[in-house]
Amino acid sequence: MFSIRNLHLAVPAMLAPMAGVSDLPFRLMARKFGCPLAFTEMINARALCMASGKTFKLLESSPADRPLGVQLLGREPEYLREALIALEGLSYDVIDLNAACPVRKVTRKGEGAALLKEPHLLSRLVATLVAHAKVPVTVKIRSGWDHLSVNARDIAARIADAGADAVCIHGRTRSQGYGGKADRGIVRSVKEAVSVPVIASGDLFSVEAVEKVKQETGCDAVMVARGALGNPWIFREIAAAYGQGVPPSRPSMEELTQVMGEHLQMSVERHGEALGVIDFRKFFIWYTRGLKNARLLRPKAMLVSTPEEMQGLIDELRAAVSPGLNFPASQTPSVETQLGPAALSNPGWTG
Ligand SMILES: Cc1cc2nc3c(=O)[nH]c(=O)nc-3n(C[C@H](O)[C@H](O)[C@H](O)COP(=O)(O)O)c2cc1C
Repeated sequence: MFSIRNLHLAVPAMLAPMAGVSDLPFRLMARKFGCPLAFTEMINARALCMASGKTFKLLESSPADRPLGVQLLGREPEYLREALIALEGLSYDVIDLNAACPVRKVTRKGEGAALLKEPHLLSRLVATLVAHAKVPVTVKIRSGWDHLSVNARDIAARIADAGADAVCIHGRTRSQGYGGKADRGIVRSVKEAVSVPVIASGDLFSVEAVEKVKQETGCDAVMVARGALGNPWIFREIAAAYGQGVPPSRPSMEELTQVMGEHLQMSVERHGEALGVIDFRKFFIWYTRGLKNARLLRPKAMLVSTPEEMQGLIDELRAAVSPGLNFPASQTPSVETQLGPAALSNPGWTG
């Protein structure tokens, strides 16, 4: 059992916030396979205060989408406080503050990972959230701004002192982006520095990686991000590793295509036909990662524009693969392979 204050999870794992990805259909697919907690993508606190319709769309949820964490991005205590007021009436279970986003358009405003350079301000922001939120408060950080200023240990201690209920650390600096390997040593050092739960993020593409990071760092829980793209099954594998349910086999092609169809349908219901199909294109690429028989279908998926055409490709995929052939086990592919060209050019991509 893993707890963030009064929120108890049977399995110490969660789905990461991912801009341009973590919408309701994606979260619901992960939950179908046992994801115990999921986060919205980062929501700009100021935009929330302006009551922007687009921003509220990012908060769309449903009763099956619980427990839910809402991640806020911001650097003004007043806006964070007002954002909490704007969130009143919505159902959610955790508030997370983003001090991890490396994207220039965010950091140049002093938000996201730029907060790692302003420990006093970061503490104030956390204290503001702790004072006013009715739910547990967590903070997501990186190991530091760059390799010359790796300060996650100090930052985490300050965050905990300011009253946060858990710290999530992605073991890369802001300058690293997604390059190289996530540093496990810094996660261990954060774990040693604080008494609140520590959640590890970075390169968790398989159950084996999850087990390894727990062993090497002593972290209390793990946050899966790219490892869940096109692979919601990772959560049932993690649950089984923690004694919840029987160890599952990889999904059959029947199950894979069934899940793709469901995801497409939810995407269309949520976003409308045109946007729903466009949004699903990147998931088609992720779901079919490593499938040789999908090679010819992938470029087509980037062009189709109606749900019927997209479903047609899913049906072709089912027919193209020999029955009983299992979806390949998760690997540790490059960022490009993980994300596909569409997501990489997505301006909403942050992290
Ligand atoms: C497409 C994408 C969008 C992301 N958006 C966010 C975000 O909105 N907020 C955040 O804190 N992290 C974001 N991240 C970072 C992830 O939450 C996670 O910390 C990072 O990808 C490392 O985990 P991984 O190696 O398992 O992918 C994003 C990552 C990706 C790939």
